[in-house]
Amino acid sequence: MANGFFLITGTSKGIGEALAKKLLQEGNMVLGVSRNRSDALKFTQYHHQSFDLTDTSRIGQIMAKVNEIVDGQSFDFVCLVNNAFTVEPINPIEKCSAAEIESHLKISLIAPMILTSLFIRKFSNFEVRKKVVFISSGAAFTAMPGASMYCSSKAGITMFAQCVGLEQKNRQTGFEVISIGPGMVDTSMQQVVRSKAGDEFGMASFFKQAFEDGKLQNPDHVAAKILTILENNYEQGKYVSVSEV
Ligand SMILES: NC(=O)c1ccc[n+]([C@@H]2O[C@H](COP(=O)([O-])OP(=O)(O)OC[C@H]3O[C@@H](n4cnc5c(N)ncnc54)[C@H](OP(=O)(O)O)[C@@H]3O)[C@@H](O)[C@H]2O)c1
Repeated sequence: MANGFFLITGTSKGIGEALAKKLLQEGNMVLGVSRNRSDALKFTQYHHQSFDLTDTSRIGQIMAKVNEIVDGQSFDFVCLVNNAFTVEPINPIEKCSAAEIESHLKISLIAPMILTSLFIRKFSNFEVRKKVVFISSGAAFTAMPGASMYCSSKAGITMFAQCVGLEQKNRQTGFEVISIGPGMVDTSMQQVVRSKAGDEFGMASFFKQAFEDGKLQNPDHVAAKILTILENNYEQGKYVSVSEV
């Protein structure tokens, strides 16, 4: 895949960084959004917007940067990858503060919803292949004590993908919309969940064991599979597991 424009949230580390690197190596243009900037993304085709996605009222600033980059250029493919998230707060819900709950939903649900709305509005008349992707999780379908916020936001974004996919279905210049389950990947998120105490997160020992048993996938390997999923065609709104490709 080359000559695509990709807006990816959460490119400072983990899956987002690995995916951005792969797309850049193939000759695509990437605008990455996160608070920090990765040293691994030193490519002329890489643009970065330092942005805190809890600042949902200012998400228009990201689209201003998109306009700066894409206007006057031609691409064969435009794609939004909603990847940034927070796993916190990890705790039984009565121990989560209102501020933590609000912040979680802003990063993991509200920001991707607003970005999706703005991205579809911006590119709706572009007659090229267009895609909106949500990095979801098996947590969307698996209840985990202590991770009620994470499981709920992943379930929410997975359903959002299905609804928006139906909205776009049968449109002449519609967007493809899917969500992707990466499986367990060796990133900072996994460090956080396996470091929790059992009374904070009932499944901490499961994640510790998975790490010790070498079950976590390498982010570069997962990024290559996500790239294949981006290239493939799927039924609108489908949840695609990385293990399928
Ligand atoms: N790793 C796994 O095992 C696994 C399993 C299932 C699903 N997933 C999904 O995969 C996706 C990526 O996870 P990962 O494991 O790669 O996580 P990660 O290594 O912790 O990376 C998270 C990214 O999100 C960004 N981010 C967090 N808060 C932000 C904020 N307030 N504003 C802007 N950006 C923010 C971070 O950037 P800054 O901190 O620089 O802002 C970072 O680039 C997530 O959607 C996650 O749910 C991961």
